[in-house]
Amino acid sequence: APPLPSLFGIPLKYVSLVTLAVQNSMLTLVMNYSRVLIPSSRTYNAATAVLMNEILKGSISLFIAFCRVEQSSGSPLQPRVFMNKLRKLSRDVFSSDCWKLSIPAVLYVFQNNLQYVAASNLPAATFQVSYQMKILTTALFSVVMLRKKLTSLQWVSLMALAIGVGIVQIQSGVSSHQNHSQTMDAAKGFLAVVAACFTSGLAGVYFEMVLKNSQVDLWVRNVQLSLFSLLPAVLHIIATDSTSAHFGSSGWLSSLFDNFGLWAWMTVFVQVLGGLVTAMVIKYSDNILKGFATSLSIVISFLASVALFDFRMTWPFIIGSIVVLNATWLYNHHPQRTRIVTGRDLRS
Ligand code: C5P
Repeated sequence: APPLPSLFGIPLKYVSLVTLAVQNSMLTLVMNYSRVLIPSSRTYNAATAVLMNEILKGSISLFIAFCRVEQSSGSPLQPRVFMNKLRKLSRDVFSSDCWKLSIPAVLYVFQNNLQYVAASNLPAATFQVSYQMKILTTALFSVVMLRKKLTSLQWVSLMALAIGVGIVQIQSGVSSHQNHSQTMDAAKGFLAVVAACFTSGLAGVYFEMVLKNSQVDLWVRNVQLSLFSLLPAVLHIIATDSTSAHFGSSGWLSSLFDNFGLWAWMTVFVQVLGGLVTAMVIKYSDNILKGFATSLSIVISFLASVALFDFRMTWPFIIGSIVVLNATWLYNHHPQRTRIVTGRDLRS
């Protein structure tokens, strides 16, 4: 078998899973800080952030895809070799099946915008735990679209997950002690999370299906995804901003970046990292292991929330989180596989 792709000797599968766990908790905290804890008079345009995310992610993917195009001879800086590689790459990107990426692209733009609504209306840790429901939607779509078979234990753990998330929700009623809660609307935030979970499951499984059913390079697929994201991301900016007084004028373009300071850019960068790592996790593992990595991030961002944001630990939050973590563990626990490994393999 070909050696597994690795970084400093560690398989990319594990590197990407751990990076995703850390990225997920960073994103929750940075996004919450940039949306909730900075006074609302200085709020930046979330739709602009989503567009910047797509442009940056697309450019990085384009660069990596370009470097991965095989070249026959010479340095890539030679004009002839450079143009040859560029021609090959554009043939790959604009291949006849590139339209397939338009579906996850639209879904992800929708999801990335919903995330800002959720993060603006829910305390960081509550958002993080409720967002775990995407494990449920991902499982549903994996069963329907990828014909994945789930054991009864896995179905039970999915139910437990939903219950755990429900228990944590009791927390949002109590969260009115939080600073800035007057601008937060927990019901709106929760609806946004539920919708984002559906788009996450559908888009993730769809992307996995397209990726694993063809030989096309991951980074070419990412470029296609970003290209198809540009139009909906721009349309969303226009839709949310068309009521502003100077819409369409040159001042309007620069106003899209009003208050777009360090924290807005930090949020964008962490999202870019997340997009790239998510794609790698889907490639080297699958969407279900991705859920496991993100549930690890609950613990990380939960502890950080207590330390940084004065987040109050309530019993519903603690019990709900424990149920969610156990459910995730149970879901990823395969008794048969464990038996094979601990039995014959270890003795031999
Ligand atoms: O929550 P979830 O894991 O579904 O989030 C996926 C995130 O990763 C989205 O922000 C999406 O835009 C991004 N992504 C990406 N490229 C991929 C797959 C996902 O940028 N190939």
